Amino acid sequence: MAQFELLARCPTTRARVSRLTLAHGTTMLPTFMPVATQAAIKGLTPQQVESLGVTLILNNTYHLNLRPGTKVLSEAGGAHKFQGWNKNLLTDSGGFQLVSLSKFTTITEEGALFESPFTGEPTMLTPEESISIQHAIGGDIIMQLDDVVPSLSPDHARVEEAMERSVRWLDRCITRHNASGKQDRQNLFAIVQGGLDLELRDRCLTQMLERKDQVAGFAIGGLSGGEEKDVFWRIISRCTEKLPEDRPRYSMGIGFAEDLLVCVALGIDMADCVFPTRTARFGVALTPHGPVNLRLAKYANDFGPIDPECPCPTCAEGTSRAMLHGTMTKETTAATAVTIHNITYQARLMGDARNAILNGTFPNYLKTFFATYFGDVG
Ligand code: GUN
Ligand code: ZN
Repeated sequence: MAQFELLARCPTTRARVSRLTLAHGTTMLPTFMPVATQAAIKGLTPQQVESLGVTLILNNTYHLNLRPGTKVLSEAGGAHKFQGWNKNLLTDSGGFQLVSLSKFTTITEEGALFESPFTGEPTMLTPEESISIQHAIGGDIIMQLDDVVPSLSPDHARVEEAMERSVRWLDRCITRHNASGKQDRQNLFAIVQGGLDLELRDRCLTQMLERKDQVAGFAIGGLSGGEEKDVFWRIISRCTEKLPEDRPRYSMGIGFAEDLLVCVALGIDMADCVFPTRTARFGVALTPHGPVNLRLAKYANDFGPIDPECPCPTCAEGTSRAMLHGTMTKETTAATAVTIHNITYQARLMGDARNAILNGTFPNYLKTFFATYFGDVG
């Protein structure tokens, strides 16, 4: 079972530092999890990812189930062995990817019905099956199958139905997980749904908290769909206010630096997003002054590194902005170099937040971050 130890709390915000120990080692929280959709973070070897200090990454059940599939994964002894990743791994349950990637997904009480992208055959992903696939993958943290509705959906009745169904699916996931004998190495998280409606979130929280002893942590889903920032903050705040202190809290699909730090201030411990790695492949490097688009003409003669203060191999070894500008669309090495930088940027953002919480300087860290990021300083 996961071991979760609270080490420090910020006295004026809800920010906290904790240590999460899973079967593949210890991860300090708050942390950002890079996304390795198809097993492997695009452009990087697992050894490169590990050398950047990353101790927890995310894989998607949906993608791994299609390719290589559970048979190969079971033969390999799980996704850790398959991809050569020796640190912690979290798998998302598949429902969100089904809804966001396939136009042909129909949600029923039984599960999510979709058309296989390979054979065109109708295929059903049930909560039980999602858990069994995640058992074959062998992630240290596994997620319940949830019913996800886009956050800006105007259909209140559908948002309510999805929230209630997510609670029922949680029960089915718990039953399958507890019957598996895998509970000692794999840890199930619940996902709070309820859209942008505080009352629905409250009802979801009440029901899921009744299952607290059956889950190792709680995620907040159904956000990051284009809603206004203040609405997003209010939902996160309401959830962290009610979630138990002694369980990790994970905001799903959050990856902009400014959002991560607000979430940390509101008591979030974990977050994931494809943004830092995807944007790197489009030539966008993350910096303390905000994202920099290296494809802009002005970088053609800029011989400095992405960020002179950054300790990542790309910056420390002096790869110039001009070189990255010139090769971004032609060479995969440029995408790799910026991906290495962006993963380091996210890891430092969260590492520095942890240090500030431990040192009692977190409010000041926030102030300096926002002043620098939005332009008052530097
Ligand atoms: N990734 C981003 N948001 C969500 C969500 O609401 N549910 C799941 N399962 N994954 C997500
Ligand atoms: Zn760098």
